[in-house]
Amino acid sequence: MTGNARDLAARFDLEKLTQEFYDDPYPTYRALRENEPVKRLPNGTVFLTRYDDLVTTYKNTRTFSSDKRREFAPKYGDTPLFEHHTTSLVFNDPPAHTRVRRLIMGALSPRAIAGMEGDLIKLVDGLLDAIAAKGTCELIGDFASAIPIEVIGNLLDVPHDERAPLRDWSLAILGALEPVVSAEAAARGNTAVKDFLIYLQTLVERRRKRPGNPDRDVLTRLIQGEENGERLTEKELLHNCIFLLNAGHETTTNLIGNGLVALQNNPEQKQRLIDNPDLIKTAVEEMLRYESSNQLGNRMTTEPVELGGLTLDAGTSITLCIGAANRDPAQFPDPETFDIARTPNRHLAFATGAHQCAGMALARLEGAIAISRFLARFSNYALSGRPVRGGRVRFRGFLSVPCSIG
Ligand code: HEM
Repeated sequence: MTGNARDLAARFDLEKLTQEFYDDPYPTYRALRENEPVKRLPNGTVFLTRYDDLVTTYKNTRTFSSDKRREFAPKYGDTPLFEHHTTSLVFNDPPAHTRVRRLIMGALSPRAIAGMEGDLIKLVDGLLDAIAAKGTCELIGDFASAIPIEVIGNLLDVPHDERAPLRDWSLAILGALEPVVSAEAAARGNTAVKDFLIYLQTLVERRRKRPGNPDRDVLTRLIQGEENGERLTEKELLHNCIFLLNAGHETTTNLIGNGLVALQNNPEQKQRLIDNPDLIKTAVEEMLRYESSNQLGNRMTTEPVELGGLTLDAGTSITLCIGAANRDPAQFPDPETFDIARTPNRHLAFATGAHQCAGMALARLEGAIAISRFLARFSNYALSGRPVRGGRVRFRGFLSVPCSIG
C-alpha cells in the first residue's frame, strides 16, 4: 500500500471534498477501504466503505437506526424540511416504518409496474423521435431526466400540465440532504416542501372526490389503504407521496445518464451490448454497481457496537458508502472493470434489508427500456463535449451530457 493512498484516507473529510474527488471518488474510496475502512471523520461521524460492513449495518435495524429526528433537529430546526424527512418512511424505524412500507409496497405492486411498460415504451420512443428530429442530443435534459418525471407522474396520475414544477421541487428537497447545506439551499428546500404540500393537498382532495383505478393509480391505492382498514394519516400520505416523487426521480435519471456515459467510455462493452441486446438486464445491474446513482446512506447507532475493530458509542452517525462497497474486491472480482455480463452481481445500489428500495423493479424497468432503445436507435452516439457533473456526493450523476447521435 502506497503512502499516497494512506494519506488520501487519512485526509478524507466528507465536509471538505475537492473537485478531484467529485470528478472521480473511486481512488479515495479504495484508499479508505484498504486503509481505514471504518473511518472516524473530524466531525465525529463514521464513514464505512467495506461491502460486508454495509450489509451488517443495513440488516440490523435495531442497532443501526434510520430515525433521523435527533440528527435532523439541529440541521433543519422546526421547518417543513424537518417534518418532511422525519415523516418519510425511509427515515423511520420499525414498527412505524413497517406499516407505511407495507402500504407503499402494496401500491407499487408487480401488476402496477408491469402495467406501465407499454406507456413507458411510447414515452421513450417519443423522446427518441424528438432527438432524431433535432439531430443532436443533450442526454440528460432531452432524455434521461424526462423519463422518470413522467413515469412517477403517471404512477400518481398527476395531470400532464401540472408536472412542470415537480423536478425543481425534487432537486431542491434532495439537495438539502447533502452533508453540508448552505442557508440558501435549506431555504430552497423548505420552500419546495411547502409548495409541494399545497399542490398535493389539492391533488388528494380531487382524487378523494374522483378515485382512479387502484390497480394502476398509486395515489388512489394509498388514499384507500388496505382492505383491513389500515390507512396512512393525512400527514403520512402527503409526505410519502413527496418522497415517492423524489425517490424515483434523480436516482433513475442518473442511472440512465451514468449508464449511457459508462457505455460510451467502454466501447468494447457498448459494442457487446449492441451485438447482444439480451444482456440488457445484467448491463443495467452493472451500471447500478459501477456508478451507483445513490452513493451514500445513513444510520445512527442506538447502542455501543464494534465495527471493524472500532467501538462506536450509542448515538454515532454513520455514513454507508454504497459507491465504495460496490467496488469492494472482496465481493466483486476485478471491481474497477465495467463488465455488462457480470454475474453474480449483488450490488448495494438499492441497499439491502428492511429499507431496500421499494421502487427497484420500476427503476430497473425504466433503465432497461431507456438504455436499450436509445442504443438500438442511435448506436453511433458519441460525446460531443465535456459532460458536466452534478457536483453532489450523495447523488452521483450529470447535469448535462452533450452528444452527437451519428
Ligand atoms: C436507480 C434508481 C434508484 C436507486 C439507485 C434507488 C436507491 C435507493 C436506496 C439506496 C434506498 C435505501 C435508502 C436507505 O435506507 O438508506 C431506497 C429506498 C427507497 N426507494 Fe429507491 N432508488 C431508485 C429508484 C426508486 C424509484 C423509481 C422509486 C419509486 C417509485 C423508489 C422508491 C423508494 C422508496 C419508497 C424507498 C424507501 C424504502 C424504505 O425505507 O422502506 N426508488 N432507494
